[in-house]
Amino acid sequence: MEGLKRTVSCGVLRKSDAGKSVVLNGWVHRKRNHGGVFFINLRDRYGITQVTVDTEANTDLASICDELRNEYCIAAEGKVIERPSAMVNASMETGEIELIASKITVLNRSEVLPFQIDEESKASEELRLKYRYLDLRSAAMQERIKLRSQITFAVREHMIENGFFEIETPTFIKSTPEGARDYLVPSRLYPGKFYALPQSPQLYKQILMVAGFDKYFQIARCYRDEDSRGDRQPEFTQIDVEMSFVTRDDVLSMTEGMMRHVFKKIKNIELPQNFKRLSWEEAMENYGSDKPDLRFDMLLKDFTEFTEKSTFQAFKDAVSQGGTVKAIVAKGKADYSRKQIDELEAHAKIYRAKGMAWMKVTGSGLEGGASKFFTDNAAQVISALGAQEGDLILMIADVNKKIACTALGAVRSKLGRDLGLCDPARFEFVWIIDFPMFEYNEDEKKWEAAHHLFTWPQDQYHATMESDPGSVKGDLYDLVLNGYELASGSVRIHDSDLQKRVFKIVGIEPGEAEKKFGFLTEAFKYGAPPHGGIAPGLDRLVMIMAGVTSLKDVIAFPKNSFAVSPMDDSPSEVDQKQLDELHIIIKRDEKQ
Ligand code: AMO
Repeated sequence: MEGLKRTVSCGVLRKSDAGKSVVLNGWVHRKRNHGGVFFINLRDRYGITQVTVDTEANTDLASICDELRNEYCIAAEGKVIERPSAMVNASMETGEIELIASKITVLNRSEVLPFQIDEESKASEELRLKYRYLDLRSAAMQERIKLRSQITFAVREHMIENGFFEIETPTFIKSTPEGARDYLVPSRLYPGKFYALPQSPQLYKQILMVAGFDKYFQIARCYRDEDSRGDRQPEFTQIDVEMSFVTRDDVLSMTEGMMRHVFKKIKNIELPQNFKRLSWEEAMENYGSDKPDLRFDMLLKDFTEFTEKSTFQAFKDAVSQGGTVKAIVAKGKADYSRKQIDELEAHAKIYRAKGMAWMKVTGSGLEGGASKFFTDNAAQVISALGAQEGDLILMIADVNKKIACTALGAVRSKLGRDLGLCDPARFEFVWIIDFPMFEYNEDEKKWEAAHHLFTWPQDQYHATMESDPGSVKGDLYDLVLNGYELASGSVRIHDSDLQKRVFKIVGIEPGEAEKKFGFLTEAFKYGAPPHGGIAPGLDRLVMIMAGVTSLKDVIAFPKNSFAVSPMDDSPSEVDQKQLDELHIIIKRDEKQ
């Protein structure tokens, strides 16, 4: 490399550098031959510089220029010159200069590419993941990986400045029930025993509070064996935080401070001092979602009263059985075709709605769909919903209020996307607070923890927790950004009697609790401080800030939708010897 080593990167040369002799290292991004004059766009992670070779003037470079192909890794030595004004390329940062090469050395050749760099959208996702190192060379991926690094650094900077210690917790831990399925690691030394990879550092961070580290954070790897989605990966990263001697509001304002710092530093955006707050109930009533996108309104309105007065039997039946009817107004969408409305209804059905009714607002009242049932009080309907001529009204009724709200909430989200109401340049944070502590599992006929078992039930419910678990609110909070759950956390139980009562409500007997979480309850016996915490998802934060909708676009080496890494082909089979050492016998399905 001696003598070929770059003296500058491909992104820095400007007009003021004209006359300098430099060496550039990088990849051939494009090569053009204009009658013996070669123009080579040389790329590295800092930018692109045009390297020009006139092979008539410089005959010994002719054969090497002929040989060059895209993605050859080369060194180019020469003199920087200012381009004539007609040749200036304003779209390139280095567009005012070019390098007149006196020497070009191939550092390494490239095979024919499976897809062209920067034409990522044309290659299938599978191919991009298989040749991830090529995909990562694209300007878009380089930018996003850089953004991720900058965001991570900004988080660390803020936390350290605010007195937090970054403490690592183990990634081989005891398997404890935490919601999703664990990834397990078999123990060679202890046949039949397994470590689990952490779904989050939850129990360890709580134990760190018992250990007196009252402000902890960690950029922590988490592993969950659950189905991948756009915003879910089996392996992901949390900004994990825990604090002692705090109330809910302390954790919220610490998180707001972190987000304010990150957005100011990375995007120069001033976020508000305090983010909006909605109770879980308000969020469900008004948006039909516990992660509402507040970039647009289109609130869900209660339509039960109008249904009762109407002659719409199908909806009235739901109401007479204690159900609910919800409505939204799609502004100016009275021109939606039957097909478009059917598509929205099909979307609602994914969320278990039995159907979706609609009507259009015209100059003379309501028209089409279910309008005939509401002719008597059309004017009141229109005014109560705040609708106007040209709007489309959509309604869902269900005996189960949660289904009516959730299904119409899903329609609202789809409309937001379809109608371009989700401005990617806007960042609307909202806290969802006062979540129910317990949820009833109809299938198993038992109460379950809505978040996790260590959440502090709000004080006012302590006396009635056993007699009415359904009404208990926990000191739980989610931070939602543009319709994504960005972070989740809670104030924890530090009192073992209260903990035992919570275990009992969800059917965990004392012996079982000891076996599963014994080390935590044991630690809590030694003066555990009151504490609480939160964990924003780093991948989701980067994804939203980068304006993309897939986590794969902000993780260097993600898994595909089937939890497979096409590049290294993991998961893969292992040698029999390895299995024997781990005392594992593979039981194959007959189909396999
Ligand atoms: P929770 O399970 O809600 O809480 O996770 C916190 C945040 O982590 C992110 N996240 C994910 N990101 C990508 N892929 C996934 N599969 C995935 N799962 C979760 C989300 C989510 O809001 N220990 C608690 C936190 C606490 O109470 O302090 C926890 O893990 O952004």
